[in-house]
Amino acid sequence: MLFDVLTIFPSLFVSPLEEGILRKARQEGKIRIQLTDIRDFADDRHATTDDRPFGGGEGMVMKPEPLTAAVEKVRAAGNTGRVILLTPQGRRYSQEIARELATESSLILVCGRYEGVDERFRAAFCEDELSIGDYILTGGELAAMVVIDSVSRLLPGVLGCPDSAERDTFSRRLLKHPQYTRPRNFRGVDVPEVLTNGNHAEIEGYRFIEAVRRTLARRPDLLIQEEFTPQESRLLQKHGLLEAIAAVKAGPTG
Ligand SMILES: C[S@@+](CC[C@H](N)C(=O)[O-])C[C@H]1O[C@@H](n2cnc3c(N)ncnc32)[C@H](O)[C@@H]1O
Repeated sequence: MLFDVLTIFPSLFVSPLEEGILRKARQEGKIRIQLTDIRDFADDRHATTDDRPFGGGEGMVMKPEPLTAAVEKVRAAGNTGRVILLTPQGRRYSQEIARELATESSLILVCGRYEGVDERFRAAFCEDELSIGDYILTGGELAAMVVIDSVSRLLPGVLGCPDSAERDTFSRRLLKHPQYTRPRNFRGVDVPEVLTNGNHAEIEGYRFIEAVRRTLARRPDLLIQEEFTPQESRLLQKHGLLEAIAAVKAGPTG
């Protein structure tokens, strides 16, 4: 998958892309990340990419011409993918959107700075707008990295263990169960017995119940649309969780 990133700070991306799974995915050619410096498309000798807002007010606005020229360059170089503006005003980014983007072969990520981009550039070129949460960053670069990281790990062959993405929190509307590793006893606290007995059906059942318990405690909103198989429902009943789930689904007035 090809990610073209348009930014005035390309060097911000260097270190995050040089470590761990993203580094390996790049080396193996599973992802390609091309950084375009928007300043290279400014048409004055100071490489100006921002200007004062018409009508006055605080801050600076990113000028439309360098942004447009940068998008046109990556398009001309063959990236026909969706142009995505990172902005706190966009669709709220989620695992579902990551899955949607992972089906595409290329993307163009536009990182804003200052007070954001000129509205005419946004309207003419940005086919999608994503926010990584209800808070304000100084620029879209961290948000673009979040998108690259979360989409890349969903691509075939990127994770060492193909099952792990399927079993993550949000792969269905459940938080992941608690996890344990060696030692078996840490400061007097044992690993739950069931995880050490080698009975895979029991382990699966235990993990499922713990995932539901954790979701009920921390993110009950996720359960509203979650469906359970008849086998899961029996297990939930056995552990006395069906009522709590029904109450969540019924909502505060139910
Ligand atoms: C300081 S912010 C501008 C915020 C803008 N004045 C507003 O109120 O909507 C600068 C840039 O950071 C990026 N940014 C800030 N918060 C973000 C978020 N939650 N998700 C995605 N991008 C964000 C955007 O690219 C934005 O153009």
